[in-house]
Amino acid sequence: VEEEKNYSDILKSAPEDAFKRFPLKLVHGIPLMEPIAQNWQRVEEFQARPDDLLISTYPKSGTTWMQEIVDLIYNEGDVEKARRAPTNIRMPFLELFIQKSMLSDVDFLEKTSSPRIIKTHLPFQLVPKSFWNLNCKTIYVARNAKDCAVSFYYFDKMNLTQPEPGTWNEYLQKFMEEKLSWGSWYNHVRDYWDEKDKHRILYVFYEDMKEDPAREIRKVMQFLEKDLGEEVIQKIVHHTSFQVMKENPMANGTSVPSFIFDQSISPFMRKGEVGNWKHHFTVAQNEAFDAHYQHKMKGTTVTFRTQI
Ligand code: A3P
Repeated sequence: VEEEKNYSDILKSAPEDAFKRFPLKLVHGIPLMEPIAQNWQRVEEFQARPDDLLISTYPKSGTTWMQEIVDLIYNEGDVEKARRAPTNIRMPFLELFIQKSMLSDVDFLEKTSSPRIIKTHLPFQLVPKSFWNLNCKTIYVARNAKDCAVSFYYFDKMNLTQPEPGTWNEYLQKFMEEKLSWGSWYNHVRDYWDEKDKHRILYVFYEDMKEDPAREIRKVMQFLEKDLGEEVIQKIVHHTSFQVMKENPMANGTSVPSFIFDQSISPFMRKGEVGNWKHHFTVAQNEAFDAHYQHKMKGTTVTFRTQI
């Protein structure tokens, strides 16, 4: 708890000029925020532990939602325990690095007691090898490309450490050109899909979670070898619904200072819907996107639903 407090305080008291819209730097060909690139060696050499659980996603795919579900499963549905600290303290973000305060989640994770739940957005090939060598479990959440792109656009407007998103049209081009933070959505979802049967990876879809959260929570529980019973499952469904999470200060991003997340621009818990892209894509953008998508996704069996 002491460590957790310190970390929170450091984040809040970090000099404001520690944060700006950072440029992206290539790490093994993947564009990452400059501080992450600078701290890369520490991430690459990260020592996993056999009982670590990795929650991996392309940004804006439902990471926070899955984190909340998993933390509640670990705490057997105890909502109060899940409110002990904000998401980023309970489940550190592997590659996060804040320059001036030299705050690295790798340091934080080394002091975190097991079992650890670790968040990452790294594409498969950049995940530290120790996770795979130790056969750690991974939950991968994938979300359809169009909703991801829209969600990421609003996120990059309000996350003042990400590059300027520009106009929606410019942003969509960058998404298609795989030039956004953490690189290509296409390769991200494809590569984890290809690797899922070679490692202990549970591959979950955001759209399935929306359609039937209890069913998907049961899958996660089974993967984690926990049997909590139907009543607890229903409690978890309720506590992790979009509306309840939006109101929960330990899950809605309000613990992140406003000079990092400016929620007056766009809330961190924005819409939480499938198919919200329809309000943003023009017919022409949609046609161009679909044609490019066919090309990028050729040969893979992973399929997404863009509405339910
Ligand atoms: P929108 O911007 O489309 O609303 P991540 O946690 O990976 O950053 O993903 C954020 C996206 O997941 C946002 O999408 C957010 O609203 C949505 N989200 C967060 N919690 C959710 C929940 N409990 N149910 C549904 N969607 C949720």
